[in-house]
Amino acid sequence: MRKIGVGLIGWGTVGSGVVRVLLENAEIIESRLGAPIELKRIADRDIERRRAVKVPREMLTTNIDDILDDPEIDIAIELMGGIDFPRGVIAKALAKGKYVVTANKALLAHHGNELFDLARNKGRAIGFEASVAGGIPLIKSIREGLAGNRINKIFGILNGTANYILTRMTDSGLSFGDALKEAQELGYAEADPTLDIEGMDTAHKLAIASAIAFGTPIQLDEVHVEGISGIDSLDIQYAEELGYQLKLLAIARNIEGRLEMRVHPTLIPKNHVLASVKGAYNAVHIEGNAVGDIMLYGMGAGMMPTGSAVVGDIIDIARDIVCGTPCRIPALAFQPERLEKIEIRPMSDVSTCYYLRFQALDRPGVLSKISGILGKHQISIAAVIQKGRHEQEWVPLIMITHEAVESNIRKALDEIYGLDVVLAPTPLIRIENHN
Ligand code: NDP
Ligand code: HSE
Repeated sequence: MRKIGVGLIGWGTVGSGVVRVLLENAEIIESRLGAPIELKRIADRDIERRRAVKVPREMLTTNIDDILDDPEIDIAIELMGGIDFPRGVIAKALAKGKYVVTANKALLAHHGNELFDLARNKGRAIGFEASVAGGIPLIKSIREGLAGNRINKIFGILNGTANYILTRMTDSGLSFGDALKEAQELGYAEADPTLDIEGMDTAHKLAIASAIAFGTPIQLDEVHVEGISGIDSLDIQYAEELGYQLKLLAIARNIEGRLEMRVHPTLIPKNHVLASVKGAYNAVHIEGNAVGDIMLYGMGAGMMPTGSAVVGDIIDIARDIVCGTPCRIPALAFQPERLEKIEIRPMSDVSTCYYLRFQALDRPGVLSKISGILGKHQISIAAVIQKGRHEQEWVPLIMITHEAVESNIRKALDEIYGLDVVLAPTPLIRIENHN
């Protein structure tokens, strides 16, 4: 019987999950595939550190070429992280005729277009299910299950670390720093956690998922990105009082032939389905013109869920090797020559509701000055609360607007910050009331 040989490069959190899934579920995987998958080598720069699963010493190497040059290894699994180094390793693996599986969204968001072309030219596939939404089979769902649909919208939570931090801050009153530390200890955060908290990791995932959903090349530079590092726990508290919960959302929509891709902290009503997505869980709402609305939910990060997604890719590729049908499914769901850039809808055109917090002087006439400027820019106010009552002192003034166009909000804020009764800058958080 044909064995499928695999070599793992990067034996960290996700690598350990992959080893466990391959070893613990070997029998069930073979029953499904009709051939055994053999983990032949593991490469890492440190092969002395203790890992979650023990493997025979002779399986370990510090030399990646031991995997790339081994003719019995069909699939190279890249789980090191980073960009330039793994890009070279994957290119070399493809050049040597290997199939590749990676969880590296940063690499694919930057160089996926080029790597997918390279793989195709070599008649090889790159599996990357784990790169978006951890253990949730999101790529497979869009690329295969929803292949008959025109997709209009992807909307959801795509970063486990940020969601974990916001959950711990909201539900347990933890500080940002303590919540991040916990997420790191649990293996959710990137080696460089600024990618998680500044929204870039979510942007990487949104750029990849949007390409597959909307039939464009990966366009990372077109994603508007704001992270959660500037979030004040005061705003979480005030928003709660107003019936909202804060989430870092990824939103991509095709609006009349223009593509909107944005990542930013967002308030959603407490009874919104995404408000119940806690901890490192991710959830993604997809709207297709045939299926309607669907929601995918599951762990977005961590050793075993991500290991599950990587092994799913290994099995998919192994099936194609066994059946002699490599590259049956195009990497980005569409035939490469049919991928087309879609015009991008700028943030200035986005229309949504806003949470605004001003630090204003508690003096007669201040509120009417602010609301007058908002009104002049066609922004109407849905709710106002003032915190505290300290004549002649700075107090927080919180406003929720009805739907307004972002360019108008920006113009109004510039004018409001010009008032000598308002301190600048203060937070602006977008609100999404619908799916
Ligand atoms: P880890 O840092 O835990 O593991 C990476 C491993 O690769 C470490 O052992 C690291 O060694 C090793 N390594 C790094 N560079 C090299 C190199 N040049 N040569 C040899 N070994 C190297 O990362 P994760 O497992 O968390 O993440 C791996 C990939 O999976 C990343 O691309 C990440 O974005 C992605 N991912 C992670 C998820 C998660 O939940 N953690 C979920 C989805 C995707 P050292 O420790 O010495 O640096
Ligand atoms: N750091 C990422 C997250 C890992 O927290 O979502 C999963 O991609």
